[in-house]
Amino acid sequence: MPSGFQQIGSEDGEHPQQRVTGTLVLAVFSAVLGSLQFGYNIGVINAPQKEEGNAVQQCPGSARGRPHGPGQGGCLLRVAHSWTVPHWRLLRYPRALWSRPVPCSPSLSLGLGVRVGSCPQKLSPSLCPGLTSGLVPMYVGEIAPTHLRGALGTLNQLAIVTGILIAQVLGLESILGTATLWPLLLGITMLPALLQLVLLPFCPESPRYLYIIRNLEGPARKSLKRLTGWADVSEELAELKEEKRKLEHERPLSLLQLLGSHIHRQPLVIAIVLQLSQQLSGINAVFYYSTSIFETAGVGQPAYATIGAGVVNTVFTLVSVFLVERAGRRTLQLLGLAGMCGCAILMTVALLLLERVPAMSYVSIVAIFGFVAFFEIGPGPIPWFIVAELFSQGPRPAAMAVAGFSNWTCNFIIGMGFQYVAGGETPCSLVELGSWREGWSEHPPHSPRVTLGLFVLWLGCGRGVGHSPFSSPPSSVAHPHPAPAPGYFRPGQS
Ligand code: GLC
Repeated sequence: MPSGFQQIGSEDGEHPQQRVTGTLVLAVFSAVLGSLQFGYNIGVINAPQKEEGNAVQQCPGSARGRPHGPGQGGCLLRVAHSWTVPHWRLLRYPRALWSRPVPCSPSLSLGLGVRVGSCPQKLSPSLCPGLTSGLVPMYVGEIAPTHLRGALGTLNQLAIVTGILIAQVLGLESILGTATLWPLLLGITMLPALLQLVLLPFCPESPRYLYIIRNLEGPARKSLKRLTGWADVSEELAELKEEKRKLEHERPLSLLQLLGSHIHRQPLVIAIVLQLSQQLSGINAVFYYSTSIFETAGVGQPAYATIGAGVVNTVFTLVSVFLVERAGRRTLQLLGLAGMCGCAILMTVALLLLERVPAMSYVSIVAIFGFVAFFEIGPGPIPWFIVAELFSQGPRPAAMAVAGFSNWTCNFIIGMGFQYVAGGETPCSLVELGSWREGWSEHPPHSPRVTLGLFVLWLGCGRGVGHSPFSSPPSSVAHPHPAPAPGYFRPGQS
């Protein structure tokens, strides 16, 4: 077995499985509040597109103030919006990389992420999720008992999709999606951050961090007792000691060391390809622009259809929480990607036939809902928590940083590029910005191109997975329950 992978656990039935304690629930809930906030920021972008556009048009020097006809400055608007969508992702790069160097306390870092990220959206729309997207799966992975690691890992995604749904509902014109209230809509992101600030001090620190990194046996024991609810945690501690002994030969790796490491190459490629498959599937084109996609598809109430997509998203993430430990990561990932491909084809056909057969708008809705459902079965939640599973304590922070960086890079490309793919145009150059190129906004996005864009993006991701070691994994990865990495588990389980 390549030593880059963690040992695979098997439950032998002789040792009691850890029950779910109140402290574990509190710790996971508090941590995933960060993911809820991250999801809220994704979903909230959809609603204020129109208001945001109006705001840009009212700026001095914008098309409005110029003696041109309607639609002028469309290029600027498009650039402005497409930058508000992905720029907070761009700003996450340094933070994604920042999650690497410190073998720091996950809960402390989460707290830091909360404080920074709780600045009002208008001032600082992006300061939190870059940290939380790496730290939440890492912290949850480290405190979760082995037999629940997949399910608890999926709760991270459940919190993200719940955040998206809440933002979609609050963004309705009848609630906060209005010309006057949209700043409040963006500012609500502070609430989960504040709640998290209140709750985090009551959460236990990761016992693995305390013992393996800080060498603090007493606090690690206390933390284990709180998390497990057991008075005697000597077996769990012995397990941590054994892991620490092994890791003495494996120091924390820097990014460059990880990238150059032959031993860790295969799990690293898997982690990156999974992140690429998640983002290049085009899922965020759906979440950032679903309202305009539904409009293009001739749906009468696009805002409600968007909420429908959010509901499907949440329900299928819940399904995944229950499926992930039974069906296995690999099966769910491949099933999800295949289903998404089928739905993208269905949507392409539906949009091509839309003019001749109006009922095709219903088929489009089904296709988008199916696309989202298949995403949440595997490609949504799995890439986030599998990195913590594939790597041991030494290289894990660096691996998380690389995975996060890959994720946000692709997220940025999709968020930035989708409008151009949908409109069938090349990105506006600075020169074009200066000359206020006329008239593009008079040409609405050409619907088949929207789907074709999604489909091409999917093909890109399909190729990536097809050629990755994931499709033909080493024996340790082929196991449906790969690598229970961090966490404490009874000796005999590994
Ligand atoms: C995953 C992705 C995120 C996407 C979300 C949709 O968490 O990382 O980019 O918006 O799923 O549910």
